[in-house]
Amino acid sequence: MRALASVKTADSLRVFEVAYLGRKGKLTELLKGLASLTLEQRKIVGPIANATKQLLAEAVAYRRTTLGVDEKTPSVDVTLPGIRPPEGHLHLVTQAIAEIEDIFARIGFYRVRHPEVDTDYYAFESLNMPADHPARDEWETFFVTSPAALSSQERGREKSSLVLTPHTSNGQVREMEKGKLPIRMINIGKCYRRQSDISHVPMFHQFEGLYVDTNVTIAHLKGVIEYFVHQFFGATRSYRLRPFHFRFTEPSFEIDISCDVCDGEGCRLCKEGWLELGGAGMVHPNVLKAGKIDPKKYNGFAFGWGVERTSMMKEGLKIDDIRLLYKNDLRFLEQF
Ligand code: DAH
Repeated sequence: MRALASVKTADSLRVFEVAYLGRKGKLTELLKGLASLTLEQRKIVGPIANATKQLLAEAVAYRRTTLGVDEKTPSVDVTLPGIRPPEGHLHLVTQAIAEIEDIFARIGFYRVRHPEVDTDYYAFESLNMPADHPARDEWETFFVTSPAALSSQERGREKSSLVLTPHTSNGQVREMEKGKLPIRMINIGKCYRRQSDISHVPMFHQFEGLYVDTNVTIAHLKGVIEYFVHQFFGATRSYRLRPFHFRFTEPSFEIDISCDVCDGEGCRLCKEGWLELGGAGMVHPNVLKAGKIDPKKYNGFAFGWGVERTSMMKEGLKIDDIRLLYKNDLRFLEQF
């Protein structure tokens, strides 16, 4: 290539071309020599030699255009197809978010967005978890302004301390405060927790459903969960509701899906054949009150699920470590 750069005239370019690419040229001879190699050797050397030949031919052609010679053949063949840039696609998690949004839109749940950096009030206090309540410890929260840094006056009003939302439940009271009933929201957003292992990443996504109306029952909650499971995972997939405790719902459940990595046998990801996807329950009256809704007239259900885990459990994907989703390894990402 360096030799090519020093070629300054049309004639010397032709000499160069003949010397390498002509019938008796160096590269041509080399390619002919391939015939004497073993099949294994040819497999390795062949593609390299061919690629080199093509590269050199292109370089000669390009040099010809820069020298402004050879007017007989146009320097740019405009009829040649262009070079296609590599085509990307949406990340698996983005695909899942779009699908989740679509599934809920079909039953009247509208997508909303609430802050991903929010006050302690919306992330905890309005959800029936007053300051210093031990239940808060379950959310390994990142604080933006530490409670300790607040002045003693501010400390009484935990509204002033900011957190990276550890769950999308901060959208519940925010949505209620809009003052429009009934509510059928689906809030999809980023969540942050100080955790990283096979089934946790420090930044992940949740989708939070909230339905508030008159005469809402657990049967409605179960119906919506079942509808989602059937739409996303298929009609034959097993799931279960397990009694649990959350401060913002009563009664509360956790939702498990049969693990697709091990077909419910138990593996390093799920341990016992079921993977926990999220929580759900009937909205606690105190949460409705925080949202200025009269719990004597209205009630509702809510649920919050992890998008990454939901996406990993899709039939046939067999992703057994949540961290793979965020390693940005193209060999992984290109499979979806
Ligand atoms: N916010 C809970 C979590 O991150 C999940 C959850 C449980 C959301 C119950 C809800 C609910 O809306 O009703 O663990």
